[in-house]
Amino acid sequence: MSELVKNKILKLEDLEIIEADDLKKSMISIDVAEIQFGAAAVQKADWLLIQHFLNHNVYRKVVEIGYGLSTELFYRFGLAVHSLETHPSIIKKAVKKDNINIVKWDGKEKVSFPRDINLAFIDGPFGGPNREFSYLNCICNYQINCVICHDVQREYDRKWIDKYFYNWNVYKKSTLRTEIYYKRDVELNG
Ligand SMILES: C[S@@+](CC[C@H](N)C(=O)[O-])C[C@H]1O[C@@H](n2cnc3c(N)ncnc32)[C@H](O)[C@@H]1O
Repeated sequence: MSELVKNKILKLEDLEIIEADDLKKSMISIDVAEIQFGAAAVQKADWLLIQHFLNHNVYRKVVEIGYGLSTELFYRFGLAVHSLETHPSIIKKAVKKDNINIVKWDGKEKVSFPRDINLAFIDGPFGGPNREFSYLNCICNYQINCVICHDVQREYDRKWIDKYFYNWNVYKKSTLRTEIYYKRDVELNG
């Protein structure tokens, strides 16, 4: 890892350096040039941080809250995705693939995540005030030791993060829309 991006608050431009560094080491890299990143979905900068994290830490499966572009990115990277989605029309339109399991969720009920999945990604339901149950479910499923949070710059996501992850650590403090939180007894690399 370049000295430039070690131990500092990551900014957007630092990710290009991280990516170049990772590419030199032949780590897995999705061809982001052909991906259509949109405003409501995970953006390129978010993905570069997530990809760097996944290249340095062994997670093969993810529980995702909010189906969409992120599902495709995790899938292409090689992760199995267990996706909780609240919106019936999104589920109907979802592309069915092996290793992508889409589950209808009402956005409130307590759900048991698969026991063999330690990683979660929160990017739904649409909104913010209504996302408390997404965070709560990650806390209640004790096997989850790391949570990738999207939209951290928003008032309500910030509120739920501060409420539920106050005693977790943050992986690479950044100014991005994505932050990665992990339990204190977990050691992350990268
Ligand atoms: C902000 S989206 C992000 C989903 C995904 N993680 C991504 O990166 O694309 C979160 C939620 O918005 C809802 N959503 C996305 N597109 C929608 C649409 N066209 N109409 C209604 N709801 C939509 C879905 O329920 C989805 O779970």
